[in-house]
Amino acid sequence: MLRLLGTDDYEVGTRIKGITARAILTLALGAVGFLLLGFIIGWFAKSSGSSNPSQVSQSMRKEFWDELKAENIKHYLYNFSRVPHLAGTEENFLLAKQIQTQWKEYGLDQVELTHYDILLSYPNQSHPNYISIVDEKGQEARQTGQTVVHEKACWRPRRTMIFASWDAEEFGLMGSTEWAEENVKLLEHRAVAYINADSSVEGNYTLKIDCSPLLYQLVYSLTKEIPSPDEGFEGKSLYESWHQKYNWTDFKDAPRINKLGSGNDFEVFFQRLGIASGRARYTKSSKEHRYNGYPVYHSIYETSEIVDKFYDPLYKNHLVVAKVRGGLVFDLANEVIIPFNAQDYASELKNYADIVNNMGQKHKSQLDTYNVSFYALYSAIENFTKSATSFHSRLKDLDVKNPLEVRSVNDQLMYLERAFIDPLGLPGRPFYRHIIFAPSSHNKYVGESFPGIYDALFDIESKSDQRSAWDEVKRQISIATFTVQAAGQTLEDVL
Ligand SMILES: *[C@@H]1O[C@H](CO)[C@@H](O)[C@H](O)[C@H]1NC(C)=O
Ligand SMILES: *[C@@H]1O[C@H](CO)[C@@H](O)[C@H](O)[C@H]1NC(C)=O
Ligand SMILES: *[C@@H]1O[C@H](CO)[C@@H](O)[C@H](O)[C@H]1NC(C)=O
Ligand SMILES: *[C@@H]1O[C@H](CO)[C@@H](O)[C@H](O)[C@H]1NC(C)=O
Ligand SMILES: *[C@@H]1O[C@H](CO)[C@@H](O)[C@H](O)[C@H]1NC(C)=O
Ligand SMILES: *[C@@H]1O[C@H](CO)[C@@H](O)[C@H](O)[C@H]1NC(C)=O
Repeated sequence: MLRLLGTDDYEVGTRIKGITARAILTLALGAVGFLLLGFIIGWFAKSSGSSNPSQVSQSMRKEFWDELKAENIKHYLYNFSRVPHLAGTEENFLLAKQIQTQWKEYGLDQVELTHYDILLSYPNQSHPNYISIVDEKGQEARQTGQTVVHEKACWRPRRTMIFASWDAEEFGLMGSTEWAEENVKLLEHRAVAYINADSSVEGNYTLKIDCSPLLYQLVYSLTKEIPSPDEGFEGKSLYESWHQKYNWTDFKDAPRINKLGSGNDFEVFFQRLGIASGRARYTKSSKEHRYNGYPVYHSIYETSEIVDKFYDPLYKNHLVVAKVRGGLVFDLANEVIIPFNAQDYASELKNYADIVNNMGQKHKSQLDTYNVSFYALYSAIENFTKSATSFHSRLKDLDVKNPLEVRSVNDQLMYLERAFIDPLGLPGRPFYRHIIFAPSSHNKYVGESFPGIYDALFDIESKSDQRSAWDEVKRQISIATFTVQAAGQTLEDVL
């Protein structure tokens, strides 16, 4: 999708290695976030005197947040969007080199441009409706290289962070997908989380978050610490203005968080590999403006000037989005215990099961005729819920100074999202392997829960062979059941 930041059209990968780096935290912060984070590393040279690792981490996060400045965001947005830089063009390559140089200056350990040969199609003015695939056979002057800088370690995150800026997103998420395929084993075994950055601001009304349920608690606690940028909410937190404007109402008394769909670079990480993912942006009021995105989306009028004049003249919404993304990345990389919560997953699973169950109950006689029941799925969710509850109560007594205990629960937390992956994928969609979430089959941008069951039930009355249609529903319920049951077991105490 489009980026107001205009930062996805080149490939840059950066690594910061933590001293105790066991796990990789992968993320693609917007340019704003990463440039500032690069700057922040030296800043943390002065260590805090407190001995509580969690307090130290939180005070460092505050200092990091204080370094984020609206005027810098404005400056970078202007600079990066000045020249058109379509994927695969010389301008795009030069911009990537510029970012690489700046990141090195900021002291990141390693900054590399990763080259992939990808077939791209460009519009042809004289034949606008003619589409062809042209193999450029290595015509592009891209380079690969590795540079290691940064000898003076000051503050370092506990876990490795990778900052990635993806190329060729509009052409089919190519940069992120190629990179994830190349690094698939590392990612499967070591990735804790992926935070996406795209379209920081699509309106000036309130915050919009799409993420794995594992991240809900972290998002809520961070937004309670960030001041609201909204008029009429002076002195209030972002959480409060967000809660008032976008209440979850029927599900719970908290700000609403959406499911991840696709149409963006988190897809391969979340939907294919099962890495807990999230994204944040500022958005318009969904009640007043019912259209998707915003009017100038993907047009040539989408410039930094339009942000200056209409969308975010003070860059205060950009700043808040940078703080949310940056705060997520910071805590995921730095907290001793990975800040995931499995209990929110449990309550969402119940919520999602109710949705497919209600779809099914519209066909009561068929449920009887073909002996279809959701009982086993509810049983698995109940078992998952018990496991999640006892896992979190054990966490309270954990000896955080015992590295083996810490390692053990962090592995359980890190691999929980992975446990929802079915290697066979969804019917007809082998790259969508998450059993709980997938892009909707009817709108790729939107997320669907229990997609296998949902798709089997969708419009089922119009299927000609009713027996095989309901057999497929049963098959999908079984897959969801054993997946949830098995995922819950990974949270049991390790003997
Ligand atoms: C953007 O920043 C780079 C690096 O500081 C500079 O070389 C370049 O001239 C700037 N471009 C514009 C359009 O301001
Ligand atoms: C556009 O299409 C025409 C007709 O196929 C072709 O002659 C021309 O080279 C194309 N232009 C570009 C820029 O590819
Ligand atoms: C920004 O907020 C004002 C006041 O709420 C509203 O009238 C305006 O339409 C918003 N601008 C955009 C671009 O959403
Ligand atoms: C959110 O909705 C719940 C349920 O209707 C309600 O009790 C609560 O007061 C609402 N919260 C806010 C901040 O509007
Ligand atoms: C219906 O399914 C249940 C298990 O879910 C099984 O015990 C029962 O025998 C089945 N009945 C028929 C008629 O297939
Ligand atoms: C849930 O746990 C109970 C008790 O261990 C077990 O009997 C039941 O089969 C489990 N449910 C599923 C779906 O495996």
